[in-house]
Amino acid sequence: MSKEYSKMNMPNMTLARKRLNKNTNVIRYSLNPLYSKLGEGKTYHLKTYGCQGNLADSEKIRGILEAMGYSYVDCDEKADLIIFNTCAIRENAENRVFGELGRIKNLKKENPNLIMVLCGCMSQEENIVNKIKEKYPQVDIVFGTHNIHKIDEYIYDVIVEKKKVIDVYSFEGDIVEDVPVIRDHNKKAWVNIMYGCDEFCTYCIVPYTRGKERSRMPEDIINEVKSLAKEGYVEVTLLGQNVNAYGNDFSDRKYTFANLLDDLYKTDIKRIRFTTSHPRDLDDETIRVMAKGGNIMPHLHLPVQSGSNNILKKMNRKYDISYYQEKLKLIRSYFPLINITADIMVGFNGEDSDLFNKAYKFIDSCKYGETHIFPYSPRPNTKAYLESQKIKFSDAVNDFTKKLRVNDLLSLNEINALEYRKKFVGMIVEVIVEKIENGIAFGHSSNYLEVKFPVVDALENELVYVLITKAGYPISEGVEKNVIKK
Ligand code: 5AD
Ligand code: SF4
Repeated sequence: MSKEYSKMNMPNMTLARKRLNKNTNVIRYSLNPLYSKLGEGKTYHLKTYGCQGNLADSEKIRGILEAMGYSYVDCDEKADLIIFNTCAIRENAENRVFGELGRIKNLKKENPNLIMVLCGCMSQEENIVNKIKEKYPQVDIVFGTHNIHKIDEYIYDVIVEKKKVIDVYSFEGDIVEDVPVIRDHNKKAWVNIMYGCDEFCTYCIVPYTRGKERSRMPEDIINEVKSLAKEGYVEVTLLGQNVNAYGNDFSDRKYTFANLLDDLYKTDIKRIRFTTSHPRDLDDETIRVMAKGGNIMPHLHLPVQSGSNNILKKMNRKYDISYYQEKLKLIRSYFPLINITADIMVGFNGEDSDLFNKAYKFIDSCKYGETHIFPYSPRPNTKAYLESQKIKFSDAVNDFTKKLRVNDLLSLNEINALEYRKKFVGMIVEVIVEKIENGIAFGHSSNYLEVKFPVVDALENELVYVLITKAGYPISEGVEKNVIKK
């Protein structure tokens, strides 16, 4: 007999689109003693899909689970709790999750007490949750991006109340502070500075799945970074869908991303990165703060999305290529060697071969250090999807053409990425050693070049000086100069 639900709150994409300009609530998490022993002697396995935002959320999920007594296992067959923290940005990410859910279905036969959880961006979509209800009864808990901090309560509902849970909110979202975290790395940390997105690029589902833009208080961020530095963390990556919109929602103060970056520049953390920047909102003040150098790393991820004005307009990106070009010029006038990277989408509705060829030329002219290329994936309920549906998808680019264009841009990426890397041959760069395998160390330089070198003194997680001897993409080679003493 199938179990009843203790909660049944379904997502609603129409509500998720609304922006009511209400003040954001700040919730402070603490573990309810009722839940604190539920995981004792039990194990969990967590699979994370998608962006850094999801990786950061997974660290919070782990923090709560371990506070409840659960311990991590790296294989789902041994787990008492399996969590899928999912991504909705492209259809193939969703299909992979459905494949995995099918694959592990039989695990419940061996362990009837196994709990299966679906959370993250897919849970925020009506069609997905309906499909889970109908075709994947093995899933016990579904919750979304706004209520990660309630996973303890949902597990209680399943174990103690013997119920299933669907609890997804399609509201604008709160900020939840004080959630415990178990970080994946002990030298590099994600730091959320804001949540949500109000850009509504026409292709993108994120404003629906993650709610409105809401900024964490500067004090909370600065204190987190200072504590991380004290604990021995070397690098923080500040996270937001559009970090340049940081602070726009403060009604009691004027405090921008440039102000935040400048305040973090004064802390003891050795490396600061941030992602993602929006070309329209990246202001001169931020570039001037970046130019102070020091702990602010010379890498800027500045997604262009398309190199065609026609397509950029349809995407609602709110800039054109000459504006973007001027931004690159300004940034490079401060840092000639900065690593500028970008996301690019091909095969957006109406991208004919003429528009693609123009876009290709523009992308080539940007001389990126690296590009991430994606085939456009129509996302239900987004503006681009609905507009295209009206004309029976007659403006859609076929999958084969998308594939060819992805390949064209991947080849271009290899050429330009290698050209960029050649500039560093003969230079000494600073690398954090992320792993050592068979006497070879791997890590990233300040400007985010992947580097490998034979180990002399280097230890995992140390900052090391490396002389670059050979440019390569994706990995350049070098030799160790000396370990930086801390
Ligand atoms: N299809 C393909 N790629 C997308 N992205 C966002 N939405 C879509 C979509 N519907 C890409 C953008 C973004 C990156 C994280 O994912 O390039 O910058
Ligand atoms: Fe999506 Fe655009 Fe927001 Fe990025 S800025 S998350 S692409 S809507």
